[in-house]
Order: sequence, then C-alpha cells, then structure tokens
Amino acid sequence: MPATVVVGAQWGDEGKGKVIDILASRADVVVRSQGGNNAGHTVESGGEVYKLHLIPSGILYPETLCLIGCGTVIDPKVLLEEIDGLRARGVTCENLRIDPRAQLIMPWHITLDAMKERSLGSGKIGTTGRGIGPCYMEKAERTGLRMGDLSRPDVLEKKLRSAGEAKNEMITRLYGQPPFDLDAVLEEYTEYGRRLAPMIADVSVLAWKAVQAKQDVLFEGAQGTLLDLDVGTYPYVTSSHPIAGGVCTGTGIGPTCIEKVIGVAKAYTTRVGEGPFPTELDGEMGDLLRDRGHEFGTTTGRPRRVGWFDAVILRHAVRVNGLTGLAVNKLDTLSGLGTLRVCTAYRRSDGALLEDFPASLEELAECEPVYEDLPGFEGDLSACRSAGELPAAAKAYIERIEALCGAPIVMVGVGPARSQSLER
Ligand code: GDP
Ligand code: IMO
Ligand code: MG
Repeated sequence: MPATVVVGAQWGDEGKGKVIDILASRADVVVRSQGGNNAGHTVESGGEVYKLHLIPSGILYPETLCLIGCGTVIDPKVLLEEIDGLRARGVTCENLRIDPRAQLIMPWHITLDAMKERSLGSGKIGTTGRGIGPCYMEKAERTGLRMGDLSRPDVLEKKLRSAGEAKNEMITRLYGQPPFDLDAVLEEYTEYGRRLAPMIADVSVLAWKAVQAKQDVLFEGAQGTLLDLDVGTYPYVTSSHPIAGGVCTGTGIGPTCIEKVIGVAKAYTTRVGEGPFPTELDGEMGDLLRDRGHEFGTTTGRPRRVGWFDAVILRHAVRVNGLTGLAVNKLDTLSGLGTLRVCTAYRRSDGALLEDFPASLEELAECEPVYEDLPGFEGDLSACRSAGELPAAAKAYIERIEALCGAPIVMVGVGPARSQSLER
C-alpha cells in the first residue's frame, strides 16, 4: 500500500476511523494532520469499541507508528486522558509522536468558543465546543502556543502570559466573564509538558523518512470535505482543511508523496451542527434512519441530522480531493426502508440544473435536490462477507451511486466491525 490519504467525503462521521483501522493492519505509519478533539473516530476491534479523538486510529496495532502533525490543534489535557484511557485498556501509546509545531488549545479557547456561539444566537455554527476555532484564530494571528513550547519553561511562561493576558482582556471586557488565573494555567501546562515531552518529535521528518523508505503510510483525515474552511459550506464549517490538500500543510510533506486518496462516505448523508443540508429528511423517515443508524455524535452525543445520499456533494468531494477511490459505509442501515432516493443534481429557482456544488450559501438556498428513486432492499446485510453476497438491489444501488459520483467504490461497509467491510 503506497502513501494513502483517507478523507471524509461528506460532513464528517462517515466511518473514517473504521476504514483507517482496517487499512492500518497493513500500514507502518498513521498520521493525523488537522483538527483536534472535535473529531470522534469509532473503531471496533475484538468486540471492544474505542472512541478516538486525537490519537490516530492506527494505535490499536502496537507496531504502527502514530503521528500527530503540525496542522493539528492539541488540547494536552484531553490527549493525556485519551492516552491514559487507552493504557488502562491495554493499548500501548509507546509509538505515538506529536509535532512540536502543533498548536496548543488553551482553556481560554474553550471559553471563547462557547461565548462566540452564545453571541451568535440562532446564527450559531453548532461547534463541538472544544475551542477549535479560537485556537486556529490564534494560530493565524501568530500568537499561539505550540507543543514544542511545553518543554521550554521560559518560553512557555512568556508566551502563556502574553496570550493569556490578551485573552483575559477579551473574556472580561467583551463577554463579562471572570479572567483565567494565569499562574494556575502555567502550573497546569507545565505538568502536561513534563508528561508529553518524550512524545514530541518532528513529524515532517518522520513522515518523509517513512515515504522515502517506501513504508506504507496512511494519512487519517478528520471532519469531512463539506466542513473544509475554504471549500465547505462556509461559515458552517470547521477551522481547518480536512481535504486531501490539508495533509501536505498539516504534516509538512509535499503532494508528490501521496499516491492514493480514498474518500469515505455513508450510503446516505448525515451532519451534526448547523448549516445547509439539501437532502435532509425531517419527519418519520428521518427519525427511522437516525434510529436505525444510531446517528448520535461520537464526540458530543448530539443527534445527527440525516438525509438521502447526495451525489452532488460527492462529486464535489471527488474533485477537491482528487479521490482515487471511495469507501461507502452503512449500506446495512438502508435495508428495509423501501424505495431509496438519491440526489443526482440540484434545480435552481431559475430552472437551471446544477451538477456541481454551488460556492455560496445564498445560491445553495435557491436550490432543490433532484431525486432519482432506486429500488430498496431487504434482509440483514451485516452478515455478508463479500460484495458478491449482497442482495441484487443493494449491488445496483452501489453501482448507481458509483456512476453518479465518478470514482470507483472500493469498499462497502455493512457493519462497524473490521470483518464487515467488503472489498470491491
Ligand atoms: P468517523 O468520525 O468518520 O470516524 O465516524 P464515527 O466513528 O464518528 O461515526 C461512524 C459510526 O458508524 C460509528 O459508530 C461506526 O462504528 C459506525 N459504522 C462505521 N461503518 C459502519 C457500517 O458499515 N455499518 C454500520 N452499521 N455502522 C458503521
Ligand atoms: P469527525 O472527525 C462531524 C462540525 C461541528 C460543527 C462544525 C464546527 O468525527 O468526522 P468545530 O468544533 O470544529 O469548530 O465545529 O464542524 N464537526 C464535526 N462534525 N464530525 C466531526 O469530526 C466534526 N468535527 C467538527 O459539529 O458543525
Ligand atoms: Mg466522528
């Protein structure tokens, strides 16, 4: 397996964790390059369920080197809790390395995330509340603290006091909240630094060396294409670049290192948080799909919004990521629902038929999905162990969405376990 990128092709939660875990059985290195603990990746292994937020989903293989790159934002408290939680379950984190350039989520970022959402009222983004946006803002402002600062007490203190004082000003004056005790924050982060120092290493160098040595390297995307800061449904997006291009800046490698890009999608669509969702289903069918698919957020537990498969957003994902293949999960969830609808294009209010995802929310608001109805299928798909065993209508559904998306479907998911992924 060459250097392979795995990205979310919809609005996140497509089952990337599962796909990474499966591919990681053959990988030497797994790299996370963007996002933070807004992500929630579920891996089922040996009857156990693991919910990973920051740590790459390759961690369940003790030999695999797991890297967290410079484009990520790290809440050190959450990272240590995750490491401790895994260790308590017998999963070693000896092979985990974090880039010194990765930004640190500070307690004020979490407060500012909440305050900003509150001030937006009904216009809120519906963030995960993990401080992601404010941390990336501070990075762009060039005043952020980075992982490497944790092991230099003088630098840590200087930067922490400077950033903390500025943010305390904002928190007290703009939002009327109490300031942070910077001595206490310094003490807390110094302790995190002591524990995390042995794991800090230059991920750009490690990833490059692995690629040069022709090792199998997997890049694990978090979030999804439509949550990308530039090509997603702005402003209802996250603050990083979950698309394949983000892997380069977020790891510190060049695009020539990447050979394959796999997009992960569900056989229908889900979204957590606010923002447009053309094929969203309200009412009974929506409730049924949510219940059948257990569509509740891995990180926040919020009910996910659900809808029909949207080939327009998938074509967008194929283009902006340069997808070489697609993994389609949760086909099992669609069984027994009757006729299935697939959105093939959008009809704009002036009558124009759009094949490509519109660039603005205003134009998107003028669009209605154009549906094609496909015969449904029955029975328990979760027992299928090869694509050939799928019912004829399920095969036809996969073939039709493959034709509409314009990328080969290389894997079909019929359940959360490793054995329930069918190669095509
Ligand atoms: P991620 O954020 O992309 O890694 O996805 P999440 O873990 O947040 O959400 C995907 C959910 O779907 C998890 O609960 C997975 O265990 C589950 N899942 C993944 N693939 C399948 C599948 O093919 N069928 C079913 N029924 N569940 C799946
Ligand atoms: P994984 O990796 C689904 C969504 C939030 C919100 C928007 C901005 O598990 O697929 P943020 O906290 O990032 O500022 O929130 O992005 N969001 C996700 N939705 N899966 C995720 O990650 C997400 N990470 C962020 O719900 O709409
Ligand atoms: Mg998730």
